[in-house]
Amino acid sequence: METEIDIDLAGQAYAFTLAALHQESAADAWDGAAFAALLAQPGVLALLAKRGGEPLGFILIRLAADEGEILHFAVRPAYRRQHLGQALLDQAMRILTARGAQRLFLEVEESNLPAQGLYLQADFKPAGKRADYYGPGRPALVLAKNLE
Ligand SMILES: CC(C)(COP(=O)(O)OP(=O)(O)OC[C@H]1O[C@@H](n2cnc3c(N)ncnc32)[C@H](O)[C@@H]1OP(=O)(O)O)[C@@H](O)C(=O)NCCC(=O)NCCS
Repeated sequence: METEIDIDLAGQAYAFTLAALHQESAADAWDGAAFAALLAQPGVLALLAKRGGEPLGFILIRLAADEGEILHFAVRPAYRRQHLGQALLDQAMRILTARGAQRLFLEVEESNLPAQGLYLQADFKPAGKRADYYGPGRPALVLAKNLE
C-alpha cells in the first residue's frame, strides 16, 4: 500500500528543505537563508508535502489584511501530474480563507504553461500583466481568485 501524503505547516526549521525543493524547479532559486528570512515575516507561511518523511513539494504564501499571495510553489519533477500541486493549493486556500483572506493573487511567468494550467483549472482569472517581471522580455501574468 502506498504511504499517504501529509501536508503540514513548515516553519523556519524547514528553510533549507524548502530551498532544496526550490532549487529543483527554478534557475533563480532562493537559498535557505532567504527562506528563513521570508518565514520570519508576519503573515508568511509555508506548507510542505511529504510522503514517508520525504519532501515532495511546497507552497509559500503571504497574508496581508484580506489579501493572500502565492510567493512560490513547486512540486519535485518526478512527482508532478499526480495532483500534489492541486492538494497544496487547496490547503493553502483553506488556511487563507480561515484567516480572513477574501482574494488570492499570484504572478506566473507568461511562458509557464504547466503552472497556468493548474491555476486556470483552479478558477484563477487574469488580473494584469507585468512587463520584464522575471527579467528582460520575461513578463508575468497576474492571476487572481475570490476566496469563499
Ligand atoms: C506548477 C506545478 C507546481 C504543478 O504541480 P503538479 O503537482 O504537477 O500539478 P497537479 O498534478 O496538481 O495538476 C493539477 C492540474 O493542473 C493542470 N496542469 C498541471 N500541470 C500541467 C501541465 N504540465 N500542462 C497542462 N496542465 C497542467 C492540469 O489541469 C492538472 O490536472 P490533470 O493532471 O488532472 O489534467 C509544477 O508543475 C511545478 O512545480 N512547476 C515548476 C515550478 C513552478 O512553475 N511553480 C509555479 C510558479 S508561479
